[in-house]
Amino acid sequence: MAKPSPRFVCAACGAVTPKWAGRCETCGEWNTITEEPTAAAGPGLQKPKTTARKLAFVDLAGTAEPPARTPVGIAELDRVLGGGLVPSSAVLLGGDPGIGKSTLLLQAAASLAAAGHRVLYVSGEESIEQVRLRARRLGVVQARLELAAAINLRDIIASLEEARDATMVVIDSIQTMWIDAIDSAPGTVSQVRASAFELIRLAKSNRFAVVLVGHVTKEGAIAGPRVLEHMVDAVLYFEGDRGHQFRILRGVKNRFGATDEIGVFEMTETGLAEVPNPSALFLAERRGNVSGSAVFAGLEGTRPVLVEIQCLLAPNPGGAPRRSVVGWDSGRLAMLLAVLETRCGLRLNASDVYLNIAGGLRITEPAADLAVAAALISAATDQPTDPGMVFFGEVGLSGEVRQVAQAESRLKEAQKLGFSAACLPRRVARGNRPLFAPEGLSLQEIGHLGDLVGRFAGKAGSSSA
Ligand code: TYD
Ligand code: MG
Repeated sequence: MAKPSPRFVCAACGAVTPKWAGRCETCGEWNTITEEPTAAAGPGLQKPKTTARKLAFVDLAGTAEPPARTPVGIAELDRVLGGGLVPSSAVLLGGDPGIGKSTLLLQAAASLAAAGHRVLYVSGEESIEQVRLRARRLGVVQARLELAAAINLRDIIASLEEARDATMVVIDSIQTMWIDAIDSAPGTVSQVRASAFELIRLAKSNRFAVVLVGHVTKEGAIAGPRVLEHMVDAVLYFEGDRGHQFRILRGVKNRFGATDEIGVFEMTETGLAEVPNPSALFLAERRGNVSGSAVFAGLEGTRPVLVEIQCLLAPNPGGAPRRSVVGWDSGRLAMLLAVLETRCGLRLNASDVYLNIAGGLRITEPAADLAVAAALISAATDQPTDPGMVFFGEVGLSGEVRQVAQAESRLKEAQKLGFSAACLPRRVARGNRPLFAPEGLSLQEIGHLGDLVGRFAGKAGSSSA
């Protein structure tokens, strides 16, 4: 038999090339290409090819009900899943090592088991003892879930073939799974891909939901192939700052629900606690009456979240001023600084600018523009913003303040948390639906960023007078 020629696979995107290269031509990543044996071309445990069968095509309507979801019983997790686990589906849970993935899944497994569901938990990273220890810490030792420590996928598949009535199977983690027919180490592209393929195939035929844990590299990609993201039905990321207690579960792909939902948890001594009111958590350490701080009424998925935006300006002795941003887009900050300079006459180019979203949250909404601008103006004029005021609105290049989605739910959240005022874009009534008028909240609608600068300047004038 002819010796199989080697094949090279990119660990970032899964592209296959016949030759090694320092940089992947498909995704442009450096040092991600490794040699993999050709035997790994197909999923390892696949049966030999069978003869082709004709497909039975059906219509769209059908008679079957949509699959019932099984709520896990942890509201923050269920929301991100889109209401619960879908039978026969595959979920990938990504996140940095140590962020709390195993903790979350053990709690989810215990919660499902307590509701009478059959749950299997396969740990490839920790021993039975370690998992038991964690269960004791979480207070879930009584949960009737089936636990195994294994990495050999052939054994796992053989055991799962029998588990026809299981609701959830957890594989912690996919990078530790190993198929003996494939001649490469666990965690390599072909091992991860083939293991996932087999587990997903089994989930489909046995109608359980399989949850795969995947570690994430420093750059934010799931280590091993990104192709895994295409194979599963939902991809959830568990993220957070090690220095902070809270963790955010974010859906980045979901075939059965919205992807912009987040779940907020707090890591405590006894596991992850749900945070039903994240605004209160993010604002907990806010000190009123300091300049450079503004509260943003944001939206995460369908959920309003209030966060504090902090800004510090430091004199720059010369050279290029520094712009340092944590939790927001630095391109967006550059744009806002340019608008404030050019359209509103605020002098900022002689200062270093540090911007931080307090609490470690990451904001992607353009609606944060107005709150960031308020923090910047506040820092530049050394005038604190009204501590009882929230801000939201998008800022355009000419300095105009634009409408953003869901003003009403943002205002309601501010009202609920005891804020007394909101600074927002000028509202326009649509159709004959009256504009929302929140009780106890005074609204300051502004059309141009210059108006906001004017307000601070006015305050500065009146306070010195
Ligand atoms: P873990 O779930 O092992 O993370 P992952 O599976 O994502 O690697 O979480 C480990 C961290 O969580 C560890 O630093 C300790 C902390 N932790 C708590 O603070 N409280 C707890 O009750 C538990 C179980 C873990
Ligand atoms: Mg773990």
